[in-house]
Amino acid sequence: MKKINVLNGLYDIVIDKDFSNLWQCVNEIKASDAKICVVSDSNVAPLYMDNIKEILKTNYCFVIPAGEENKTLENVKSIYVYLIENKFDRHDLIVALGGGVIGDLVGYTAATYLRGVDFVQIPTTLLAQVDSSIGGKTGVDFDSYKNMVGAFHQPRLVYSNINTFNSLDDRIYLSGMGEVIKHTLIRDKDAFVYLNAHVKEIKAKDFSAVSAMLDNSDNIKRVIVENDEKEQGERALLNFGHTLGHAIEKYTNFKFYHGECVALGSILASYISFKRNLISAEELDEIEVLFKKFGLIELFKNDIFNEDDINNIVLLTKNDKKMQAGKVKFILLDGIGNGFIDKTVTDDEMKDALRAYFNN
Ligand code: GLY
Repeated sequence: MKKINVLNGLYDIVIDKDFSNLWQCVNEIKASDAKICVVSDSNVAPLYMDNIKEILKTNYCFVIPAGEENKTLENVKSIYVYLIENKFDRHDLIVALGGGVIGDLVGYTAATYLRGVDFVQIPTTLLAQVDSSIGGKTGVDFDSYKNMVGAFHQPRLVYSNINTFNSLDDRIYLSGMGEVIKHTLIRDKDAFVYLNAHVKEIKAKDFSAVSAMLDNSDNIKRVIVENDEKEQGERALLNFGHTLGHAIEKYTNFKFYHGECVALGSILASYISFKRNLISAEELDEIEVLFKKFGLIELFKNDIFNEDDINNIVLLTKNDKKMQAGKVKFILLDGIGNGFIDKTVTDDEMKDALRAYFNN
């Protein structure tokens, strides 16, 4: 078991090979008589809910339907009703068991129920273990806007059991590499080199390679969150690949996973960095090759984006939460491992990047 301490002792991220240390870790943070409610979704609950309830010695649980389309205020309301009916008070604990949708939605429920109760993240996907479970961003989608309603509310514990990856289909598992590679590109060249050297082991879900990768990735995110918890500045670096990535995710009607769209968005942001002479042709190639090794880029090759599609994708970047004073806050690279915020990226630069990728 590895522990990464976050925000001066506020909570630990635990990286483990099973759930054997979960009870002890939860006991360290909860009141001795606290009730625990485990919330999961219809995909994850059949796999782990009984085991987690037994480990946490609780019968309180709630399951919502799986899928991004269920990240709604209606489902938050249904959890409030369950908590009220079962008399959960402010010293009780909520546990989010699942991927990013569950973590965000349950975190938001915990942030708002009785003005805030403690919660624990048990992320079961790679994307959730390296990104969404860490750093306290919680929220739900609203109408067609992703994560439009939310709150910053840090968990009291993040418990990552790497073996949960064995129950993920390969495409879902590998989509998480979009966020892992993103972290290395904005902050840590050595971690980028590590990924390049361990592609085979990571794809095979080898415990020691994956655990080292999570350690690197979680530490990159930890430092950024500690420097800028509420995203007033450098936390925006974590949005590398997300401006065009989110737009493509929305334009293609969510048929690609978030991490896959972040991967494509990262290549496009790297291309813009290359066109500005901030990274070399070799670096651009290295970046693209790494994403390809994890199967993240070829997925889009069957989608022909014509000039209309490209215009519409760029238009969608204007709906992004990351806009500030009418300008898109874009993240570029000044060399691998060195991301920075730039508010001067033009529509034409984005269109050029999309054309270069889609060979128009
Ligand atoms: N996923 C981006 C952030 O946590 O800031």
